[in-house]
Amino acid sequence: MERTLIIIKPDAFQKGATGKIIDRFIEEGFRILAMKLFRFSKEQAEKFYIVHKDRPFYSELVEFMTSGPVVACVLEGENAIKRVRDIIGPTDSEEARRVAPSSIRALFGTDKGKNAIHASDSKESADYEIPFIFSRLELVE
Ligand code: TYD
Repeated sequence: MERTLIIIKPDAFQKGATGKIIDRFIEEGFRILAMKLFRFSKEQAEKFYIVHKDRPFYSELVEFMTSGPVVACVLEGENAIKRVRDIIGPTDSEEARRVAPSSIRALFGTDKGKNAIHASDSKESADYEIPFIFSRLELVE
């Protein structure tokens, strides 16, 4: 069993896609261990995405992630990190519509910035991201 973090980004939350996205993960067999609605401060978003601090899109990414509420969930399942990445699709939603038309980014994203959802991309990322967002008490056993 493996755990991963997803964040329904401000664009997908704003367009009312939260329920559909969570349903998709339940249908795919994942168990929800934690969930919350919140809005990132600039400092929190900068720290969450610190691995990207030298990338050209960092400030745009932080600005977007702080532009409205998000919904974060911890999902558990076998091979959850890889399987969730497959379900969300490629980073660029336009590419996702070409190569993975039923992926979440294809269905709910706009482009490579406004791409509807975040998911941990490795065990190391999940180990940083899950405790960044959730305390131990917020995770069900
Ligand atoms: P990245 O880790 O490359 O993608 P993923 O979310 O699929 O793991 O990038 C992190 C986020 O940064 C991405 O979800 C959206 C944003 N981003 C941009 O705004 N512009 C870009 O050119 C890229 C590559 C990413």
